[in-house]
Amino acid sequence: MSVNNTGVSKFGGGLPEWVVLGDNVIVKPFTCIGMAGFGFQVGKKGKYRIPLVRKPHNFKVVIGHDVEIGCGCCIDRGSWRDSIIGSGTKLDNLIHTGHNTQIGKHCLIAVGATIGGSVTIGDFCEIGMNAMIGQGLTITNKVTIGMGSVVLKDIVEENTTWAGNPARKIRDEQVNL
Ligand SMILES: CC(C)(COP(=O)(O)OP(=O)(O)OC[C@H]1O[C@@H](n2cnc3c(N)ncnc32)[C@H](O)[C@@H]1OP(=O)(O)O)[C@@H](O)C(=O)NCCC(=O)NCCS
Repeated sequence: MSVNNTGVSKFGGGLPEWVVLGDNVIVKPFTCIGMAGFGFQVGKKGKYRIPLVRKPHNFKVVIGHDVEIGCGCCIDRGSWRDSIIGSGTKLDNLIHTGHNTQIGKHCLIAVGATIGGSVTIGDFCEIGMNAMIGQGLTITNKVTIGMGSVVLKDIVEENTTWAGNPARKIRDEQVNL
């Protein structure tokens, strides 16, 4: 596991104080937890300041109990709130969760999913292979997102299944992956 705040991968180090792991957490090789997120300062008009300057990322990554994180994942720390992975949630390989992103309990996230910064995902959600969730979105509880889908708006209906690009509701119930 690699953990530091410089954006430089460093293997074999201990956990810094901004990464909090629950009990019985499995983290597989080549996963980086607690790196600064991909967030840069903007000027008064909302445009990026040039030269680009990374925002401070001083919040934590908090991982609940019984979480599994596969190989080659990146779980970035927060700039305005803690990044969280809830208890019981399982991440496959090669998953990115952006800064400030909070994932609920008992979620299942398949290989290659890209979850943008400041996303909020409820409990019991399932996200298919290579799905993308746009930054800042909120997905309620018990939602399945199909493989390869691109979620562009909040999903507020519990117990539903969404798929496609842009993702649309395909079922009024949650289909398991
Ligand atoms: C979303 C999902 C769960 C839906 O399964 P389902 O309810 O059996 O869906 P169906 O195959 O009956 O398809 C229903 C419709 O949605 C469409 N659809 C289903 N999944 C889709 C996807 N991922 N992207 C785009 N469209 C999709 C189908 O083409 C079909 O459209 P049609 O009615 O116009 O023919 C499934 O398709 C999926 O994406 N599973 C993810 C698999 C995965 O990542 N597994 C992880 C392994 S570890």
